[in-house]
Amino acid sequence: MYQVYLRSFADGNGDGIGDLSGLLARLPYIAALGVDAIWLNPWYPSPMADGGYDVADYRDIHPMFGTLAQARELVHRAHAMGIRVLIDIVPNHCSLEHPWFREALRGGPGGAARERFLFRPGRGVNGAEPPNDWQSRFGGAAWTRITEPDGTPGEWYLHLFDSSQPDWNWHHPKVQEEFEDILRFWFDLGVDGFRIDVADKLVKHPDLPDLAQWSHDDHPFSDRDEVHDIYRRWRQIADSYPGARTFVGEIWTPSVERLARYLRGDELHSAFDFSLLASPWDEAKMRQTIEEALAAHEAVGAAPTWVLSNHDVVRAVTRYGIGDGSMLRLSAASTRKGRVDLALGTRRARAIALLALALPGSAYVYQGEELGLSEVLDLPEDRREDPIFFRTGGDQLGRDGCRVPLPWSGEEEPFGFSEVDVSPWLPQPKEWGRLTVEAQERDPASMLNLYRRALHCRRDQRAEWGEEVRWLATPPGVLGFLRGDAFASLTNFSSEPVELPAHPQVLLLSEERAGSDLPPDATAWVTVT
Ligand code: NOJ
Ligand code: CA
Repeated sequence: MYQVYLRSFADGNGDGIGDLSGLLARLPYIAALGVDAIWLNPWYPSPMADGGYDVADYRDIHPMFGTLAQARELVHRAHAMGIRVLIDIVPNHCSLEHPWFREALRGGPGGAARERFLFRPGRGVNGAEPPNDWQSRFGGAAWTRITEPDGTPGEWYLHLFDSSQPDWNWHHPKVQEEFEDILRFWFDLGVDGFRIDVADKLVKHPDLPDLAQWSHDDHPFSDRDEVHDIYRRWRQIADSYPGARTFVGEIWTPSVERLARYLRGDELHSAFDFSLLASPWDEAKMRQTIEEALAAHEAVGAAPTWVLSNHDVVRAVTRYGIGDGSMLRLSAASTRKGRVDLALGTRRARAIALLALALPGSAYVYQGEELGLSEVLDLPEDRREDPIFFRTGGDQLGRDGCRVPLPWSGEEEPFGFSEVDVSPWLPQPKEWGRLTVEAQERDPASMLNLYRRALHCRRDQRAEWGEEVRWLATPPGVLGFLRGDAFASLTNFSSEPVELPAHPQVLLLSEERAGSDLPPDATAWVTVT
């Protein structure tokens, strides 16, 4: 599955912002990668306060991305190439511009329109304190106080994310009905499925108690049992459509067992498993992570969904070039102190890509990972957009650095992303000239060619690989497993070369090797007899 961050994929109309016409023109690139489907981040009308995860209208396309007619054309043309299309649904919150939120503001306290959101009076003198102690995921309080229509300081509304993203009240039947109708709207248009944003946090404890009072179960807003009822209804809707329609949940749970509960037969088809992404570069920890994920998924009869990167975390080549590779967000301080070893990070990113693609289940590849793009750390402050940067006063760099437009061709900005001389919405590093698609197509050892070969090999051999992973007895520092009877993946996590046992054929190697050794920080795909 290939994740398309539309705004940064390809610009078709020369305004410096990626869009549907750019994506349509570049679909053959995606088909040539050898993926089965694309997932597009939100494309809805939005003030773009959080990259479009602040939705103003769930049934239309942002004019900067294109039109509904182009969305239809995308689905049609992708299907003709054998690529399925998943879109992003954002059910936890909308935007300040959503007509229902505006109506809620106008309606005044106690009005029916406010009940679709989570408005509460404040605490303390004159209600000047937030209604509870919850913190926004992006920093600061999870509540913002409004001014009532008569000009007085008024109620507070809940936003687990930015203040531009008011949370819906999922106890309200109208909210439930509305989202079911939105699903139907897009299924009718032909999309094959949805990635569900913040899927585990929709339902809040009706009393909105302080987090300080919470003891281990019955968390007031994360992973509450009631959320499963929503997905059972959604599943029925998906199943009522012809063809295979699918859901993938974005769920960050502390345990993979909790994650697997969303994958019971009548709920979601899949959920991102972020455990590999968060695992340090260490063969024992990686093995444990994979074993636990496989066992938890097997218990509910679901396939795991591996993720190595996305638009929310530090790009892999940078991540594996800092510390133990498990740092998903960067503080301004960490990048000043810690130097990034991009050469090491690139080797490890290549190795882990092969490891992940050798596992059973599905795998998501975030655009640009197949080019080995690094996190852009030095974006000028006035070009940054991520609310995380602003809500933490710049302590956290935020996620703009992994959202920089792709380099396609040429020697200078915009590297084929847009028309010549157009500045992309985020500036591209000069060094990306050697990472363009054009440059990497010429180089057999490039990251792009590694990904292409791996994805094609996986696709061709999948049937023979089966669903099982059998671990191999390997020297210390090496993680190896068999898929089926004739294929094995071996990763060297140590800093020394190890001898590769004699194999009839090496199918793919993430690094050049000297002699018969598997170099450090490398993966080999081999056939066995
Ligand atoms: C997860 C999305 O991936 C992220 O980009 C967004 O900021 C939050 N959810 C809030 O919608
Ligand atoms: Ca554009």
